[in-house]
Amino acid sequence: MYLLIPAAGSGRRMGSSRNKLLLTLLDQPLIAWTLLAADASESIDWIGIILQPQDRADLQTIVSNLSLSKPVHFIQGGATRQDSVYNGLQSLPPMAKHVLIHDGARCLATPNLFDRCAEAILHCQGLIAAVPVKDTIKVVDQKTHLITSTPDRSQLWAAQTPQGFEVERLQQCHAEGRRQGWEVTDDAALFEQCQLPVQIVEGEETNLKVTTPVDLAIAEFILRQRLAEQSR
Ligand code: CTP
Ligand code: MG
Repeated sequence: MYLLIPAAGSGRRMGSSRNKLLLTLLDQPLIAWTLLAADASESIDWIGIILQPQDRADLQTIVSNLSLSKPVHFIQGGATRQDSVYNGLQSLPPMAKHVLIHDGARCLATPNLFDRCAEAILHCQGLIAAVPVKDTIKVVDQKTHLITSTPDRSQLWAAQTPQGFEVERLQQCHAEGRRQGWEVTDDAALFEQCQLPVQIVEGEETNLKVTTPVDLAIAEFILRQRLAEQSR
């Protein structure tokens, strides 16, 4: 299975001067944890990491220090996540039929989650890992800050990655998105806009996207617990 890892962001909400994926989490750069999980997955055999030119040297060093068992390809990122994934799709080998896309910032996803998504995408056109939301979600008017509605929570799921797709269909959806000027924050949204079905795969509660400094602290706590369990 082919895996694309968008890693070409800047980490603005982290408030750090460099790409948050290069920040240290326990004793490794954050992105190293993502790569280690992908490397440990049984189904992934090709990894493409999508990056900005200024991070290339750092990421190449990180990858070579990890001595992964799978080939890692470096792909030029774009101005938005959407552009980065677009570039990633262009860089897949022509024989790639299916692809998983997984945010570099979701460094706690387990190899098992990759494997479950890789298996499931062989039986559907598109999928995302997701979990039922725990909070009650409000729709709020941007200007007045008044609540406009409260969607029924039992119908709400929080989207995660991996997200998996048939490569050709996702390429078509990205091309359509460019033509129509759709701006989306995940790939499933492009699939949905094109009226294509997207299946839910049960995600992991710990599969958080490290976005703010608090997330970094929570991720560190979870990793410490995991490592302690493994050494028991
Ligand atoms: N990403 C990317 N290319 C971009 C922007 C984001 O590949 N132009 C990647 C990020 O590196 C991250 C994932 O998409 O792994 C999810 O994005 P997000 O969590 O929003 O990361 P950043 O964009 O870096 O953070 P922020 O929005 O706070 O600036
Ligand atoms: Mg972003």
